Amino acid sequence: MLKIAVFVSGGGTNLQALIDRQQTKGLGGGEITAVISSKKGAYALERAEKAGIKGYFVSGKGLSVDEYSRKLDELLENEVKPDLIVLAGFLKIFSPDFCKKYSGRILNIHPSLIPSFCGDGMYGLHVHEAALAKGVKVTGATVHFVDAVTDGGPIVMQKAVEVREGDTPEALQQRVMEQAEHILLPDAVTLFCQGRLKIKDGRVSIS
Ligand code: GAR
Repeated sequence: MLKIAVFVSGGGTNLQALIDRQQTKGLGGGEITAVISSKKGAYALERAEKAGIKGYFVSGKGLSVDEYSRKLDELLENEVKPDLIVLAGFLKIFSPDFCKKYSGRILNIHPSLIPSFCGDGMYGLHVHEAALAKGVKVTGATVHFVDAVTDGGPIVMQKAVEVREGDTPEALQQRVMEQAEHILLPDAVTLFCQGRLKIKDGRVSIS
């Protein structure tokens, strides 16, 4: 059994999609054993509790990126010992050392078709605001491996979603979540746990 640690900062609808998949079809032999939040009282922690999964709040207050990454790593090393880390709406960044140590073992979900609307400052609703401001007709979601470049790691899966006339950022976010994120993330985690993702020359192949 592969141990999965899910990192969150907010409402946790992507976490819920993972929990639901685990409880129905399963996650390819993986099991969510910890939910780690950067935000105190995040609703995602309540979702974890309801599902009987251990939750942790790790504060980054007053800490540099390096210090916060080390603090998280201590928890992982001493207690959680995950085989896979999944970032499901986790809004903090990791140090290059942390990314290197867990290279090939961190998946992130991003609410656009990378390389559009990604990078520093592009998270949550900002991504959908930028997509609407540009006037794109199609957007979507991407699951990728994490490396030291924000949203820059090898792409695992993508799914396109149409932009509709009169969309608000909130409406678009909702459609991208329902039609793409909540399907793509459990699919990618399952493939990882089944050992079917291979990274070569910065690209992912699925067997
Ligand atoms: C999701 O849309 C996720 O893709 C996004 O934050 C939201 C979290 O929602 N992540 C990023 O923007 C990361 N760059 P959730 O807490 O309901 O899963």
